[in-house]
Amino acid sequence: MAVIALKCPDIEVVVVDIFEPRIIAWNSDHLPIYEPGLDDVVKQCRGKNLFFSKDVEKHVAEADIVFVSVNTPTKTQGLGAGKAADLAYWESAARMIADVSKTDKIVVEKSTVPVKTAEAIEKILTHNSEGINFQILSNPEFLAEGTAIQDLFNPDRVLIGGRETPEGKKAIQALKDVYAHWVPVERIICTNLWSAELSKLAANAFLAQRISSVNAMSALCEATGADVFQVSHAIGKDTRIGPKFLNASVGFGGSCFQKDILNLVYICECNGLPEVASYWKQVVQVNEYQKTRFVNRMVSSMFNTVSGKKIAILGFAFKKDTGDTRETPAIGVCQGLLGDKAILSIYDPQVSQEQIQRDLSMHKSELDRPPHLQPASPTAIKQVTFVWDAYEAAKGAHGICILTEWDEFKTLDYQKIYDDMQKPAFVFDGRNVVDVDKLRQIGFIVYSIGKPLDAWLKDMPAVA
Ligand code: UDX
Repeated sequence: MAVIALKCPDIEVVVVDIFEPRIIAWNSDHLPIYEPGLDDVVKQCRGKNLFFSKDVEKHVAEADIVFVSVNTPTKTQGLGAGKAADLAYWESAARMIADVSKTDKIVVEKSTVPVKTAEAIEKILTHNSEGINFQILSNPEFLAEGTAIQDLFNPDRVLIGGRETPEGKKAIQALKDVYAHWVPVERIICTNLWSAELSKLAANAFLAQRISSVNAMSALCEATGADVFQVSHAIGKDTRIGPKFLNASVGFGGSCFQKDILNLVYICECNGLPEVASYWKQVVQVNEYQKTRFVNRMVSSMFNTVSGKKIAILGFAFKKDTGDTRETPAIGVCQGLLGDKAILSIYDPQVSQEQIQRDLSMHKSELDRPPHLQPASPTAIKQVTFVWDAYEAAKGAHGICILTEWDEFKTLDYQKIYDDMQKPAFVFDGRNVVDVDKLRQIGFIVYSIGKPLDAWLKDMPAVA
């Protein structure tokens, strides 16, 4: 919304939320989320044509276009628990819009929702409309965190789905005119509602599938002596495959991939397509496998136990340049290590101690969660300390475990770190950011995902 305000000075944008502290934060110098470049955009527009308010009903009533970006978490209870999206927030937003509206409106689905949600929303709106015309559009967001502003300034495409009626087409055109302020029209794709909704789930499923594919290959590389860098470079040169999103890692995280795939799985099941459902489910299962495999590598390399050993965790966010920890692979890895009674010292430049504590004690309703990746008990949480410095985290540690690819981890003084650690000193690089040869020269035993194994690790099983 801030980028729309920046690019469309003729449009007034009001962001509303029922949660007042968040609105206060958006109106302050400390925005509630960290995203490179966002501060600047907000500062340029706030008070001019960008406003943040808790007066939800007033501003919805006044608007011509309402973007709904409420949370759609995975249901934890009832029908479809663990897979289906919980649309309770969406439904109450729709009812509120219907209640307060006095003029015709375009209602835009911005939250990622299961296919055919628009139909349900349309019913709620029209059954409560009292003669007002609502047009529903689906306008899924493809930005990635950490690069959100750049992605929005220069999107690969903008997708707008709507009804194929004259009124539907008029609404699509109205939203297209907003984006056309800065996005070349050939990049604005207009489709029917269901194609737009499904495209978002499909795009995330395809992206996540690439990561699970390369991660599955990483296990085979370790078993055979192939190097996953060389393999992904070689296959990425095929223009049909392309080089992006082929970095092997400890697993993908973030608020979208897992949730959207589980949603897709559920939709397939509901449509009587069990084979298609299990095909996509496998993408999530390989992601779980990758985390389990990583923990097992660590434990087996360190003489089959990490009990009582200090391990420095560098990075907790699900990727660099964000403080977001939703579904971060760090949660599963830390829980696995705590399950084996390790003592963790965690450092992430953007994640707070409170957040990490919440994440580690969280119960999750995931499909087929490996039994050792259970929420950490209150006693285990006591084995976790939080520091604001990578060197401090590594002091006296037996091993270092890199779980987020923050740039600063590439340029740490690893000699200094090595000198302060217990020996043998281990580095487990879950993001392939360190210079393996250099670290081995210093004396570290290094495990890098999908790379030829250190002699130390060769005879040790990857998955016990
Ligand atoms: C994703 C989609 O990219 C975006 O289009 C959609 O709108 C929302 O979901 P995001 O979750 O912000 O965006 O992050 P993304 O950059 O896609 O990374 C997801 C996860 O995959 C991260 O944990 C990242 O570290 C991991 N990843 C990514 C890999 O492990 N290897 C890769 O090659 C790329």
